[in-house]
Amino acid sequence: MSDKKSNLKFYELSIDQRLALLAEETGLSADDLAKLSGRAGLNEAQADHMIENVVGTYALPLGIARNFLVNGREVQVPMVIEEPSVVAAASFMAKLARAGGGFTASADASEMIGQMQVLDIADLNAAKKALEAERAALLVAAGESDPLLKKLGGGARDLQVRIIDDSPIGPFLVIHLIMDVRDAMGANVINTALERLSPVVERISGGRVLLRILSNLADRRLARASCAIPLEALTTNEFSGEDVCARVIEAWAFAATDPYRAATHNKGIMNGMDAVVLATGNDWRAVEAGAHTYAARSGKYTSLSKWSKGKNGELIGELEMPLAVGTVGGATRVHPGAGAALKLMGVASARELAEVIVSVGLAQNLGALRAMATEGIQRGHMALHARQVAAAAGAPPGMVEPIAEQMVNEGHIHIDRAVEILNTWRAK
Ligand code: MEV
Repeated sequence: MSDKKSNLKFYELSIDQRLALLAEETGLSADDLAKLSGRAGLNEAQADHMIENVVGTYALPLGIARNFLVNGREVQVPMVIEEPSVVAAASFMAKLARAGGGFTASADASEMIGQMQVLDIADLNAAKKALEAERAALLVAAGESDPLLKKLGGGARDLQVRIIDDSPIGPFLVIHLIMDVRDAMGANVINTALERLSPVVERISGGRVLLRILSNLADRRLARASCAIPLEALTTNEFSGEDVCARVIEAWAFAATDPYRAATHNKGIMNGMDAVVLATGNDWRAVEAGAHTYAARSGKYTSLSKWSKGKNGELIGELEMPLAVGTVGGATRVHPGAGAALKLMGVASARELAEVIVSVGLAQNLGALRAMATEGIQRGHMALHARQVAAAAGAPPGMVEPIAEQMVNEGHIHIDRAVEILNTWRAK
C-alpha cells in the first residue's frame, strides 16, 4: 500500500510520515499516535504499578503489518517484535490473501475453564454425584463473584466434575468451572470465582481443595482463520503459482507428521501472533501455552495449521487454535501503547481481536512456508538487511530500495558498497 501523495510505499516513508498516514487512514488522534509510537508510552510511574521492583522500562520495535483484510474489514496490525522480516512477511502474505478476498475468521464465545483440585475424598463417585447434584447452586455462587460480568452478559456457564485416576499420588477429583469472561482474558475472573467456590465445594464433597486456577488450554475459546489464495498471486519470477501452491502443501505435510518440524512450523505461526498479543498488552505466555498444548491434543504434537488445494486449484490455508486475549483489564488498559494499539486496529471486542490475531498467525505461517519452499528464507532476510545497510549509508528514502536491490543482486551487502553506489548515483 503506498502513500497517496508521494507514491512511496509504507516502508519507504519516515517514521513521522508513517504515523501521519496511519492517522489519515484510521482517524487516530495525535495523543493516541504518541502513545502508539512510544513517544508518550509507558512511563516509570505506570510501570511501577504493573510489576514489582521496577527500575525502568524496556522498549522493543513496534511495526505495522499492512494489507490485512479480515472479514472484509481493513485492519492495521500493530506488531511488537525484535525479529526482522516478520512484519514484512505478514504484510506481504496479507497482500496475497487479499487477492482471494482476505481472511475469513471467527472466534468462539469467551469461555474459559477454571480448575479446582479436590483431595482426601474417601468415596470419589459419591462426591462427584453430590457435586453434580448441586451444580445449579454452585453456578449461581460462582456467578455472584462478578456482578458486573453478569450485567455484561457473561458469567458462569457450566460445571463439570472429573475423577483423575492415573495420578502419581492416587485418585482425586477435578472440577472444571466454565465461565464466559466476555472481553477479558479471564484469569482474574476465573481465579476469583474459584476461590469463592472452594469452601462450598469442600462442604459438599467432604474433601480438601488444593489448587484453584485457570487452565491455559482454552479449548472452548478457539479462534479460526482461513484464506484462499489464487494461483496468480502465488506466482514468482522463478516459480509458477501451481508450483508454489504444491510446494507450500508439501512443506506443511512435513509439519503435519513430524514433531521436530511442527515445533518450528508452529513457532513461525506464533512469531506473528505473539507480536500482536504483546502489542495489545495481552499475556503471550498464556497464548503460547494454549497453542502448544492444543497442537498435542491427539497425543502427538502436530501442525496447528493446514494447507490444501481448493476446488479451483487455489491454495487454501486454515488455522484453528485456542486464543485467550482480552480488550479490557490488565495491561491492555494500563499500558498506553496497548490501548492505542487496540484503537488502531478498531476492534470492538475480544472476539474481534482474536479474529485478527489468528489471521496474522496464518499469514505468518504462509510467509515462512512460501519462502522456505521456494527461494529459502535467507534471501528475504538479506533484502531487509540490505535496506538497513543502505539507510545507514545515508541513502534518502527513495533510494534505499534500489541501492539495497543492487547490493542483493551483486551478492555484496556492506556499508562501503552502499556508499559507493550512492556516490555514483549522486554524481550522475
Ligand atoms: C523463524 O523465526 C520462523 C521459521 O523457522 C518458521 C518455520 O520454519 O516455519 C522460519
